[in-house]
Amino acid sequence: MNNKFPALRPRRLRKSHSMRALFQETEISLNDFVLPIFVEEDTSEFAEIPTMPGVLRIPESRLAHEIERYARAGIRSVMTFGISHHMDATGSDTWNENGLVARMTRICKNTVPEMIVMSDTCFCEYTTHGHCGVLHDHGVDNDATLLNLGRQAVAAAAAGADFIAPSAAADGQVQAIRYALDEAGFTDTSIMAYSTKLASSLYGPFREAGGSVLQGDRKEYQMNPMNRREAVRESLLDENEGADVLMVKPAGTYLDVISDIRAASRLPLAAYQVSGEYAMIKFTARAGAIDERKVVRETLGAIKRAGADIILSYFAMDIAENGVGY
Ligand code: PBG
Ligand code: ZN
Repeated sequence: MNNKFPALRPRRLRKSHSMRALFQETEISLNDFVLPIFVEEDTSEFAEIPTMPGVLRIPESRLAHEIERYARAGIRSVMTFGISHHMDATGSDTWNENGLVARMTRICKNTVPEMIVMSDTCFCEYTTHGHCGVLHDHGVDNDATLLNLGRQAVAAAAAGADFIAPSAAADGQVQAIRYALDEAGFTDTSIMAYSTKLASSLYGPFREAGGSVLQGDRKEYQMNPMNRREAVRESLLDENEGADVLMVKPAGTYLDVISDIRAASRLPLAAYQVSGEYAMIKFTARAGAIDERKVVRETLGAIKRAGADIILSYFAMDIAENGVGY
């Protein structure tokens, strides 16, 4: 080999748009996306969320119309979050057959039956203390919370939810929900486990959006963000408990974790680009420092490249309306 010219020139495969497209390893597609939505009861007004520019709380009375709009744009799936006006100590509205959780699902499924509805299954938006379950002296009572997760899952399944998505970070929550669903005859309702849910500081804007009343933090039940092996352990536990889909949340700051879980499990893997990731991009773009659309596609592509099969993102409508390229 002479050393006058480099023999190996990776640049050859980059020399034109067609060449780059031909050798692109990762693609995102609208088929990959789930749009998380916030639905508020007992109000007739859309409400802006100052920490999440461009995201609105949807009044329940306008939900049907919004779901039609998403479906027309090509969105295939939504994840429902309720903004409750009926809080109590246990979040019992969540398992009321006419409570907000059940109503959101029913409205979505009645309006667009083919829309895949994932029902976020937790209590923090329905409890007066803002924790993700029943409180006892020392914090959240794991096993008492399991019982209520089963109840909520059955109420959501009865309303037509395609996926129960437990985000309470209770030990054994997938098993408890699978058992409750099967006992009630909902053997075809799937479970998407928030299997790796980190105690992240990137949920700040979401807590603002949900009007969170939480004092303190969730470190006793959500995972330590510094732990990588434990994320694989949590994922395999949920797989054994009967999860149909695993999840990593947040997404962009946990690409190593996504990659590890992709290698350790055969289950489909979801990743949730959370409110803080959304807000960082929005506000930075507003300041003129980055190109929003390009950065959105780069971050979503990175999440996919790391090993996620599907992505929950508040940018899903941007992808639907503006396409995957830029
Ligand atoms: C809690 C829950 C959280 C989010 C959704 N459900 C996190 C939390 O408050 O601890 C965060 C979603 C986001 O930030 O976009 N069950
Ligand atoms: Zn919660």
